Amino acid sequence: MGALDARLGDEVVRLRAELARHEREVRAREEEFGRYILQLREAVRKEKSHAAEITRSYVAAVRALTNAVEARDAYTGKHAERVAAFGLEIADVIDHDLSQDPENEFGFLLHDVGKVAVPDAILHKPKALNRREMGIMRQHPVTGHQIVCHIDFLEGKAQDIVLFHHERWDGQGYPRGLEKREIPRAARIFAVADTLDAITSDRPYRAGTSIAEAREEIARGSGTQFDPEAVEALMMVPDETLERIRNEKVLTSAASP
Ligand SMILES: [Fe+2]
Repeated sequence: MGALDARLGDEVVRLRAELARHEREVRAREEEFGRYILQLREAVRKEKSHAAEITRSYVAAVRALTNAVEARDAYTGKHAERVAAFGLEIADVIDHDLSQDPENEFGFLLHDVGKVAVPDAILHKPKALNRREMGIMRQHPVTGHQIVCHIDFLEGKAQDIVLFHHERWDGQGYPRGLEKREIPRAARIFAVADTLDAITSDRPYRAGTSIAEAREEIARGSGTQFDPEAVEALMMVPDETLERIRNEKVLTSAASP
């Protein structure tokens, strides 16, 4: 019995030692894991702040370009910012992701960047443009596309909006005469937002219409000038939202700094 007790005693001591060693290893692994999680959190935090910084730089660059275009046209004021805000509201009704994509906002803001190449005599001509002048004016989507296609972060959707913002649902637009869903969705949304701003803005020669009148006019163009889906989405944006953008001229963007 004595020898058996001694062997059992040794075994208990050995098992206890093994258990203690095992617990130390587990604690060491937990600590290592904890350090790894902290490092990972720090890396993610740095990455996020870096990404936010890049987005802020992009937005600043796009705003600078937009302002350079609008500075030449005293009549339109903050047209690009209002159109972008209208466009994002319409996009949000159709698909939330569309309105959260900075590329779409950049395209909305920069749609007329190609007008930098249109001479003042044509851009500011108080009378109707003749055929030659109209031809030059209608080059601005292509010129704008040539400008933005060399900028990495504007490749894709933003440059599509710039190139196709004067296309029409019925194929009667320019520069390509694309029709229906051949036209990128964001450009179809933009066309509605652009007309909404044009109709409701005050100009030196006429006062802007009410939002209700603008809705009626745009509804008449559904299926001809405009994508019915985009028109329907506009009808679901509340009057207060459209009035606020029209009056306060604010950009309601997730991508704004
Ligand atoms: Fe345009």
